[in-house]
Amino acid sequence: MFWKTDEPHGLPRDPFKSCVIPRPIGWISTIGADGVANLAPYSFFNGVSGDPPMVMFASGARSPDAPKDSIHNTEQTGEFVCSMVSYELKDTMNDTSVAYDAGVDEAAHLGIEMEPSALVKPMRVKAAPIHLECTYFGTMDLPADRNGAGNAICVGRVVGVHIRDEFLKDGFVDVEKIRPVARLGYMDYTSVQEVFTIMRPEVKSAAE
Ligand SMILES: Cc1cc2nc3c(=O)[nH]c(=O)nc-3n(C[C@H](O)[C@H](O)[C@H](O)COP(=O)(O)O)c2cc1C
Repeated sequence: MFWKTDEPHGLPRDPFKSCVIPRPIGWISTIGADGVANLAPYSFFNGVSGDPPMVMFASGARSPDAPKDSIHNTEQTGEFVCSMVSYELKDTMNDTSVAYDAGVDEAAHLGIEMEPSALVKPMRVKAAPIHLECTYFGTMDLPADRNGAGNAICVGRVVGVHIRDEFLKDGFVDVEKIRPVARLGYMDYTSVQEVFTIMRPEVKSAAE
């Protein structure tokens, strides 16, 4: 099939989010200017450069004048932390996606244990295998086709990385032990359970 995205696709649900998969989940913790902590999952999330290490998460808005708390807090206080969601944390992560009022600290409300970060103020999810401590780099606003409520990409510079020792094997991140969770569109998820390696091709001389 083919459809133009400004016309009906004719399927029971919009398949777009299943066409860019799997998407890793950034479990974003922030603190607002009022000092209230926030924790929420974002699957429009990825690493966008390695040197320096940078990440992004993209946020919809609740309405034209109501950004979600994670991006609002990041823009106000300049820091966020991404905790990686392992398979055992998938339901806890999902619980933090409820649209609580800005005054609600999701972690405290849900009894999720947090621990201090090394370089930034937002805390990190203690049980998560990996944490990226980030400083705010900038926001790119995206078009607002739906009732004026647009999306925005929030970019951060990773200034500190924690990897829990039990998830390092011979100096490498033990992905199969972590089983990172990723989004597949609809209400579907996957977790990494199989890893394979492909070496880059060698450049051969024209004479060969
Ligand atoms: C797995 C998962 C991934 C999500 N990814 C996004 C996303 O990429 N962008 C977004 O705006 N909302 C996303 N959401 C919804 C937000 O988590 C939800 O709107 C939450 O209430 C936002 O909280 P906040 O206002 O405290 O930041 C996702 C929810 C789940 C469960």
